[in-house]
Amino acid sequence: ARTQVGIIGAGPAGLFLAHLLHRQGIECVILESRSHEDVENTIRAGVLEQWTVDLMLSLGLGERMLREGHFHRGITLRFAGESHHLDFEDLTGGRRVTVYPQHEVLKDLIAARLASGGEIHFGVRDVKLHDLNSKRPHITYTDENGQQQELHCDFIAGYDGSQGPSRQYVEGRTEYQHLYPFGWLGILVEAPPSHHELIYARHERGFALLSTRSPEIQRLYLQCGPTDNVADYSDELIWSELHQRLETVDGWTLTEGRIFQKGVIGMRSFVCDRMQHGRLFIGGDAAHIVPPTGAKGLNLAVADAVYLSRGLECFYRTGQQTLLDQYTNTCLRRIWKAERFSWYMTNLLHTNSTESPFEQRIRLADLDYLVHSQAAATALAENYVGLPLD
Ligand code: FAD
Ligand code: DHB
Repeated sequence: ARTQVGIIGAGPAGLFLAHLLHRQGIECVILESRSHEDVENTIRAGVLEQWTVDLMLSLGLGERMLREGHFHRGITLRFAGESHHLDFEDLTGGRRVTVYPQHEVLKDLIAARLASGGEIHFGVRDVKLHDLNSKRPHITYTDENGQQQELHCDFIAGYDGSQGPSRQYVEGRTEYQHLYPFGWLGILVEAPPSHHELIYARHERGFALLSTRSPEIQRLYLQCGPTDNVADYSDELIWSELHQRLETVDGWTLTEGRIFQKGVIGMRSFVCDRMQHGRLFIGGDAAHIVPPTGAKGLNLAVADAVYLSRGLECFYRTGQQTLLDQYTNTCLRRIWKAERFSWYMTNLLHTNSTESPFEQRIRLADLDYLVHSQAAATALAENYVGLPLD
């Protein structure tokens, strides 16, 4: 088979790229190793930056999001027995926080792609890339029926997540990594919302985050050890920790409900400083990882797809490869800022036994500064709602 752009991975990066290319009249085929069902049932990120929301709307993919998403003016920060509201809409001139889960975004993007005749091959195996330095690279794989297949392309987008094969083909890359001595335990709960916006809490016992999914389902996270298992956490223990870490102000209580999903998420920062090799371009989690505290992972993946689509569109329109040549540098400028913000929010809000008492006091001073300085609050707000795309 033959197409213009072969995309590996039906995550946010690959699916947005497919829609952006389709809008420009550029053909593509997506190869995905998991089943359609698995892709749509994996619980991950929850927060969309304002420009991601705007992009979904401009692609005609935002109808259900407008109906079922949650739009918040800002967030609440809790620490030292105080609660502070940061009004992002005021601080950023109208940009908001949108809670619309990643798997709902994926359902909307997959359905729209299939409805307009787009090709997504689920359940593929043994993906290998060939002839990346030629003008006709190709991908070999085994399809879901066990048949050997070849896909010949002009370009390949390796948007296959942190464990995918694509990054290994980028020669001469340098990888930067930072590990954190903690993780997150995430739960889904059958309960009404306890608050109308997200609450990020720093507490001596560890970080906690209250988020939402729907009027009936809530999402909560709890700082845990980096190698903890869900089996270490009974429902009683989870609720006890959440109550202690979140109920630090008078007159506010956390509503409990049946916990129906538990998972542990590792925390790391990772950047691959070269994102292209010949006709291969990598992006999203294949090229960079952020800890979830800043809610940046999904949004950053989509930004890479926007930059690649611009480069490809320019190439097919003019034959010029200039924008494609600049892909890595353009992406990295945004990536390092999101890395910095995610690292900053993570250190600000978690308790870290490897930090000295001095460093812990500095964190509290930082929080105090944030909630009493318009300048500091604005800096956090503009990063959280998303820096403008270059
Ligand atoms: P992915 O979503 O990983 O998509 C890549 C796709 O490629 C996958 O569907 C994968 O199956 C496929 N693939 C892999 N290997 C192959 C192969 N060999 N052949 C074909 N296809 C392949 N971010 C936040 O902001 N907040 C959160 O709360 C949050 N929680 C997370 C929880 C977990 C468990 C994980 C793993 C990530 C979380 N993230 C979170 C990060 C966010 O979900 C990711 O940044 C985002 O999914 C990145 O999108 P992507 O398209 O680059 O990669
Ligand atoms: C959610 C995840 C995050 O990482 C975050 O910072 C805020 C909310 C969520 O899953 O709802």
